[in-house]
Amino acid sequence: METRYCMITGGNTGLGYACARKLLATGNYYITLACRTADKAQRAVQNLKTENPSCAHLIEYLTCDLSSPESIHSFVRSYKELGFPLHVLLNNAGVYPGSKRETTEHGTELAFAVNHLGHFLLTSLLLDLLEASGTGRIVNVSSELHRGAPSSPEFPPTPEEYTAKTAYATSKLANILFTYALSPRLKTTTVNSCSPGWIPSTELSRHAPFPARWIMQTILPYLPVARTVEQGAVVCCRLVMDEDIRGVTGKYMGKDGEWIPSSEQSYDVNMQKRLWEVSSELQLRGLW
Ligand SMILES: NC(=O)c1ccc[n+]([C@@H]2O[C@H](COP(=O)([O-])OP(=O)(O)OC[C@H]3O[C@@H](n4cnc5c(N)ncnc54)[C@H](OP(=O)(O)O)[C@@H]3O)[C@@H](O)[C@H]2O)c1
Repeated sequence: METRYCMITGGNTGLGYACARKLLATGNYYITLACRTADKAQRAVQNLKTENPSCAHLIEYLTCDLSSPESIHSFVRSYKELGFPLHVLLNNAGVYPGSKRETTEHGTELAFAVNHLGHFLLTSLLLDLLEASGTGRIVNVSSELHRGAPSSPEFPPTPEEYTAKTAYATSKLANILFTYALSPRLKTTTVNSCSPGWIPSTELSRHAPFPARWIMQTILPYLPVARTVEQGAVVCCRLVMDEDIRGVTGKYMGKDGEWIPSSEQSYDVNMQKRLWEVSSELQLRGLW
C-alpha cells in the first residue's frame, strides 16, 4: 500500500495519541501530530518511536494552537513547506471547559474556538492538499454530548448563556453541523463525524475541580459503561482506514462503529448555514 499522510490534531495524549499509535503500527501512514504543547508532543513522538522502532521514520510533530488563527496559519505553512501530500485529517483535539468562562485572546469562548473554529480554519487551509490526493478523508471527532446543546444555540456562545456543559455541547454540535455542511462542497474527499464513547481516563476533565477530576480519572474508568482510549480509537481509525466505508460521506458514526443518526437539530440546514457564515466571517477577520 502506498504511504498515506495523516494529520492528527491533539495527538500528544488521550484519544489522539491512541489513534496515532494504532495507525503507526500498520506501517501504512506517515503521521504528523498537530500539537499545542511542544514538550508533550516531543515525548509522545519519542514514546511512539520507541514502541515501534520499525516505523520510527513515520511520525513527527509540528506545533499548532487551535485557539489562535496565527498559529494555525503558521502550522499549515510549515507543513506545506515540507512538500508532503495529505490524505487524512483527523480533527481530534478538544477541550471541556471549566465552570468559569474562558476566552481566547480576542474574546471568543474557548471551547467553541478550539473545538470548532480552529478545525474549521485548519480544514479550509488544507483542503487543496486533501482534494489533490484524490482519496482524502476528514474525520471530525464529536461526542454524544452534542445532544445536550441548547435548541437554538448562539455561535459562539454568549456569556449570558454560559455553562461548561452547554459550551462543550454547542462545540460538539458544531463539529457535526460543520461535517454535514462541508460534505456537499467537496469533490473527492469524504468527511464524517463520530463519537468515540465515554472515556473518563483521558485528560479531558483537566479543567474540572480536583475531586471531580480525580474520581473521573481513577474510579470511573472501572465502570462497565466506560471505554478505554483504545476502544475509542477503533471508531476514529475505522473512519480513517476502513475500505468498506470508502466513499461514504456526510455521516455520523457511533461508538460501536455503526452509522447512527445524530441529533435532530444537527440536520437543520439553516443552523448549518448560520454556523458556516459565522465561522467564515471570523476566519476572514482572522481574529477570534
Ligand atoms: N474523553 C471522552 O470521554 C470523550 C468523549 C467523546 C468525545 N471526546 C472527544 O475526543 C477528543 C479528544 O479528547 P480526549 O478525551 O482525548 O481529551 P484529552 O486527553 O484532554 O486530549 C485533548 C487533546 O487536545 C489538545 N488540545 C487542547 N487544546 C488545544 C489547542 N488550543 N490547540 C491544539 N490542541 C489542543 C490537547 O493538547 P495539550 O495536551 O497540549 O493541551 C490534547 O492533545 C476531543 O475532541 C473530545 O471532545 C472525548
